[in-house]
Amino acid sequence: MVQLTLPKNSRIRTGKTWPKPEGATNLRKFQIYRWSPDDGENPRVDTYFVDVDTCGPMVLDALIKIKNEIDPTLTFRRSCREGICGSCAMNIDGINTLACTWGLEDIKGDVKIYPLPHMPVIRDLIPDLTHFYAQHASIMPWLETKSNTPATEWKQTIEDRKKLDGLYECIMCASCSTACPSYWWNGDKYLGPAALLHAYRWIADSRDEATGERLDDLEDPFKLYRCHTIMNCAKTCPKGLNPAKAISSIKDMMVERAV
Ligand code: SF4
Ligand code: FES
Repeated sequence: MVQLTLPKNSRIRTGKTWPKPEGATNLRKFQIYRWSPDDGENPRVDTYFVDVDTCGPMVLDALIKIKNEIDPTLTFRRSCREGICGSCAMNIDGINTLACTWGLEDIKGDVKIYPLPHMPVIRDLIPDLTHFYAQHASIMPWLETKSNTPATEWKQTIEDRKKLDGLYECIMCASCSTACPSYWWNGDKYLGPAALLHAYRWIADSRDEATGERLDDLEDPFKLYRCHTIMNCAKTCPKGLNPAKAISSIKDMMVERAV
């Protein structure tokens, strides 16, 4: 699991400590990474206090409360508030996960929140996912067919449809790829767990007719084979998916077609 602590020589500064809210009955302390591209300063960690008796139960509820009531400059992504859009992924208490589904009750002590690790930061808790999305696009995340288009729909048996379970549920939150040491060091060339899980989702689809091309494209020392089965991806996935298993299935198919 990804554990982030500030080393003594860290360039991350101790930032502002905001005043405690008056009349609070149940205070919790939040330490939140801040960085702005506009002030020329190194990143800092600001400290906030939230009365969790007047706050919703999830980390995202606390972030929204801080932004609404304490510091409107705090910047983060969120949309659905129910674990569907993937936009609120961040590093909470050392774990890459979704702020909207991670309960405050499950965190012992201070709540430490950082952006997803090893990604360029746009501002505060917002990582730049441009490269991550480009890698996703590179695996052709759509149904590729060569046959004539059927009159109604591309049909699939119930058994074949079941082969997509554990794959189609991915919400592209990037928690897995940014928890992966191989992706940290070689993310420019290694596709990472999320893109590879999606690659396998289309390879495994009985309706897809581009399996050969898809495997050819992945037959590369970096794109696929930089997965060293470290398993951080499966441990951290907030949807309970197992990208490492999908990657292993692609590797098996590479072996099968080579013999
Ligand atoms: S596999 Fe899980 S952690 Fe990775 S992008 Fe998909 S939902 Fe997020
Ligand atoms: S806000 Fe959509 S997954 Fe958290």
